Amino acid sequence: RSTSFTKPPVVVTVTGAAGTIGYAALFRVAAGAMLGHDQPVILRLLELPAAIGAAEGIAMELDDCALPQLVDVQIYDDPRAAFDGVNHALLIGAKPRTKGMERADLLSANASIFAAQGAVLNDVAADDVRVTVVGNPANTNAAIAARNAPDIPPSRFSALTRLDHNRAIAQLSARAGVPVTAIDGVTIWGNHSATQYPDIFHARVGDRTGAQLAEDRTWLVDDFIPTVAQRGSAIIAARGASSAASAANGTIDHVQDWALGTPGDSWTSAAIVSPGVYGVPEGLVCSFPVRSNGTDWQIVEGLEINDFSRARIDASVAELQSEIAAVDALGDA
Ligand code: NAD
Ligand code: LMR
Repeated sequence: RSTSFTKPPVVVTVTGAAGTIGYAALFRVAAGAMLGHDQPVILRLLELPAAIGAAEGIAMELDDCALPQLVDVQIYDDPRAAFDGVNHALLIGAKPRTKGMERADLLSANASIFAAQGAVLNDVAADDVRVTVVGNPANTNAAIAARNAPDIPPSRFSALTRLDHNRAIAQLSARAGVPVTAIDGVTIWGNHSATQYPDIFHARVGDRTGAQLAEDRTWLVDDFIPTVAQRGSAIIAARGASSAASAANGTIDHVQDWALGTPGDSWTSAAIVSPGVYGVPEGLVCSFPVRSNGTDWQIVEGLEINDFSRARIDASVAELQSEIAAVDALGDA
């Protein structure tokens, strides 16, 4: 399909495209919400064979939007074809957690998917490929994909903690009675799980600081931190299914900031391969405060970490280490 844009198209491959997050993400990606309204996009939808019919229906709906940015929609059940020349890989397809199931239970089911996809990306992706892992357990899945892709720089792999970051901002906005746009400097540290640590000690919340809000330790410890960290479970309990539209929204925010750059001095949160800073062992995919220059994530360095924060970051990092150890024990990823 021809477009009126001059930029060459970007290839975006979405795995699990016919799932609930995929369905919520694809139309916004195709409409320019992720990479810009002047950026033509080729969408590749990767699905399991059983869901190819559903993917074909979504492609028909995408056609029916007559979106100016959308150059083509291609459907695959073969990762090698779906990732051939891919610029942005959104790895959403995985087995979702259901009621009563812990994320660690998903490790073995998902490790082999992400090992295989990492190896294929290594062989066929574009030189500038950037990979965003959404499928849970997202951090460890990203670590597995990265280590199965030895020719792709580890800095090109990331996992989504932007949903947690956005959840933290929404909670702060409600608490302080300020618009979300008046909040900056929030960080999600660690794992995308209940051990994550939403840190407000460096935040600006309207005309107050996060440190001032944190003086109410009862609110911080008994309300804010657990509300953010357990929001995924609360949504599963309420909806009977894991978050989908908000996860798609977080994915789009994450890739937009990565590809187009974070504005000004502000920062966001993303799980990236640790270079060994802030006491996080090298190689773990851990959430950090990050900025992007439009090409690479850069960790915001030099933040003072108080004892309260240190203990919580360490606990989430310990969980990440135990997830990797469990995968290593499986021996096939
Ligand atoms: P879903 O079950 O609705 O959809 C998953 C889709 O993936 C299905 O259509 C399935 O056929 C497909 N799929 C499974 N294995 C695949 C493979 N190997 N290759 C290609 N496609 C495959 O699930 P969902 O609600 O869309 O959630 C997807 C994932 O995202 C889950 O792991 C969920 O836990 C996770 N999630 C992450 C976050 C986050 O913030 N990181 C938030 C919410 C959900
Ligand atoms: C979420 O944060 O909503 C999802 O990751 C759901 C989950 O499995 O916790």
